[in-house]
Amino acid sequence: MTLSSQNSISMQSGSFYIAVWGCQMNVYDTSRIRGLLLSRGYTEVSSPLGASVVVLVTCAVRAKAENKVFNQIASWRHDGLVNQSTVIALGGCVGTELGHKIIEAGQGVSVVFSPMTIHRLPDLIETYQKTGQPVCDVDAGSMEKFDSLPDSGLRGVSAFVTIMEGCSNKCTYCIVPYTRGEEESRRVSDVLDECRRHLDNGALELHLLGQNVNSYRGLNDDGSECSFAELLYQVASLDGAKRVRFTTSNPMDFSQELVGAIGELPNVAQSVHIPVQSGSDEILRRMHRRYTHDSYLELIASLRAVRPDIRVSSDFIVGFPGETGADFEETMRLVREVRFDQSFSFIYSKRPGTPAADYPDETSAHEKKQRIYALQELLESYAREYSKSDLGTVQEVLVEGLSSRDSGELKGRTSANRIAVFKGDPSLIGKAATIKITDVLAHTLRGELI
Ligand code: SAH
Ligand code: SF4
Ligand code: F3S
Repeated sequence: MTLSSQNSISMQSGSFYIAVWGCQMNVYDTSRIRGLLLSRGYTEVSSPLGASVVVLVTCAVRAKAENKVFNQIASWRHDGLVNQSTVIALGGCVGTELGHKIIEAGQGVSVVFSPMTIHRLPDLIETYQKTGQPVCDVDAGSMEKFDSLPDSGLRGVSAFVTIMEGCSNKCTYCIVPYTRGEEESRRVSDVLDECRRHLDNGALELHLLGQNVNSYRGLNDDGSECSFAELLYQVASLDGAKRVRFTTSNPMDFSQELVGAIGELPNVAQSVHIPVQSGSDEILRRMHRRYTHDSYLELIASLRAVRPDIRVSSDFIVGFPGETGADFEETMRLVREVRFDQSFSFIYSKRPGTPAADYPDETSAHEKKQRIYALQELLESYAREYSKSDLGTVQEVLVEGLSSRDSGELKGRTSANRIAVFKGDPSLIGKAATIKITDVLAHTLRGELI
């Protein structure tokens, strides 16, 4: 049933609307699904109203994320944006997590797929349309899709390239290993070919993606293994690769070889995302994160030794089962020591089937909220300081499009991952521009072209 078999490809007609939740890997998958459906004769529409197929690419990382998709379907149905004749295809991590249960729940979902089976989506839709029977197909090798998908057709100044799939770490709170399968890396030549295609199409930034992107171990053509640092050297030296980013790095596999590469490659972006989750050694141990408060600090110190201007952002989980006030203070201490830039923090959410779901959890919801407010306030204060330090500096931004607030302005992204808005001609979209930062707003910078 794979697309590599030319005979199985049939042109389908109809329109699709696609919505995405979750991480950048889902955004990447969405662009590949879009390319696939367009190549099969579908047209894309910007509202579910009137679309023959509505595709939902979902996230299961927290209960709240998972509920979003079902609330969305219910609200579209209530507002008459989808009806009995709309084919609703639900994929992403909730697809793998709940599988057949989604069909059985009677929410009108006709096709269930997963991050591993996106390449079969048109066939699944066709099967449903021919038989009228809902279909669920969530199992496949994680590399299969890469061998059978057409170009995404997406053009932009920054391009996502997934270099590995899945995760085998099994942190005790996390559902991802169960929704995206075992960790597997794409071949080096595949990754480089996809990067070159994006650069040929005008991209200036390559954004390498993986759940643990720095754990990459892909094969070279001669069968030898390539580390993430080695891959980074190759990607950063491609003609036209003005900027390279990578997300998400796991502290456990952040090698000194990689630190060295970041120090040597000036086009590696000035910001790096290294989720720490907690600053307490006891909590880290129970999370199965294989590093400590101090070893994390040493990693950041070594990065700053080779790139003093690098900004580190992170993810935090507050209220992991058994987290005491003293454990939480260790997290606050770590934040003060590292001075993180723009970070994400979440209250722990119980995920069915994960080990931590059975751990005793005596901290009240109220206490957890107090902790997360305190953490977010501290994180915000450092993010604001970094923004303020940009005032008056000259920055190169990659221009992504019109500003969403004021269409007379453009928006671009700095190397340190800040959105900057400025007045300029729309012909600059897709290009690099040099601006001087003239004002600092809550989450964006304002600048003027120089
Ligand atoms: N692979 C990355 C994280 C991917 S999941 C890493 O290991 O660093 C993205 C973020 O979601 C995590 O960093 C974590 O902060 C958060 N997260 C994952 N599971 C969670 C849960 N059960 N409750 C709350 N937050 C969670
Ligand atoms: Fe989840 Fe841990 Fe894997 Fe990250 S490393 S995706 S937190 S299991
Ligand atoms: Fe969510 Fe799956 Fe990404 S659970 S965070 S969409 S890997």
